[in-house]
Amino acid sequence: MNWKKGIALALAAVSMAAVMAGCGNTASDNQKKIGIIQLVEHPSLDAANKGFIDGLASKGYKDGENIKIDYQNAQADQSNLNSIAQRFVSDKKDLMLAIATPAAQTLANATHDIPILGTAITDYETAKLVQSNSHPGGNVSGTSDMTPVEREVDLIIALVPNVQRIGALYTSSEINSQLQVEKMKAYAATKGITVVEATVSNVNDIQQAATNLVNQDVQAIYTPTDNVLASAMANLAQITDVAKIPVFAADEGMTMTGGVATYSVDYYKLGYQTGLMAAKVLSGEAKVADMAIEMQKDIKLTVNEERAKRLGIIIPDALRKDMKQ
Ligand code: TRP
Repeated sequence: MNWKKGIALALAAVSMAAVMAGCGNTASDNQKKIGIIQLVEHPSLDAANKGFIDGLASKGYKDGENIKIDYQNAQADQSNLNSIAQRFVSDKKDLMLAIATPAAQTLANATHDIPILGTAITDYETAKLVQSNSHPGGNVSGTSDMTPVEREVDLIIALVPNVQRIGALYTSSEINSQLQVEKMKAYAATKGITVVEATVSNVNDIQQAATNLVNQDVQAIYTPTDNVLASAMANLAQITDVAKIPVFAADEGMTMTGGVATYSVDYYKLGYQTGLMAAKVLSGEAKVADMAIEMQKDIKLTVNEERAKRLGIIIPDALRKDMKQ
């Protein structure tokens, strides 16, 4: 072999090696790269993340073995969301998980190629994450935590006798909250109940907004799964407890920190379900574009007994059968 041929062969070998190293896109050779963005830390979102990891593991995808999980929490900050999303995309993750609507919207804006699954997302369609919930059509799918709004209103009616005015408190910029409040208003109207709205932009507005509702003689306050309110339920309760007005929040974590009772989904199970979807994407069994958004049928009643008692609210025995074991 002459020297030119020798060099050509050597170069070919080097470039083959480079191609092989690049094509796996993996942390180490046989690991698929998973990026997780969680909007903020609170019990429901933490549980969804844990469920996701366990769901993947149940199908044989284990962190540090055949997958490498890069978990990031954005601390409720949009610029953190942006920079984490950018890094995940340039890192060429094989699959990404977004926990909560703003995290999914940021990831979806950052890539149209890498498969994205969401969890704890109220509604993909109204958040413009998919073409439709039954046929997503792009690189986003996942599980929805749409709350049983009608049952929540029925619960308020059962626990607050003769309720005629309900306040709805939420963050104006959160599409997930807007949608739940709209549904709640529509159903309340069929029951002859007036809904008074108060919106906030951030946690600093909560005191003022809650005081406004109290001054408008509402007999109960409803809050959807709202990412701003989630971390501020204790502040809200300081105002509503004094006024003796019960708060009905749409999830268990919020209920235990400032609410009275709720019908809500189990976020661990929701995350687990998402982990099973992820396993199908990783194995090549299914494509995100064709995977319909999955809901959760398992709705449970959570009661904050201590606060119910303090506010003189009696939980009828007939309702207790719906409570989480
Ligand atoms: N559903 C919310 C979203 O789409 C996220 C969420 C889930 C949430 N559970 C919550 C927010 C509990 C506040 C409290 O963004």
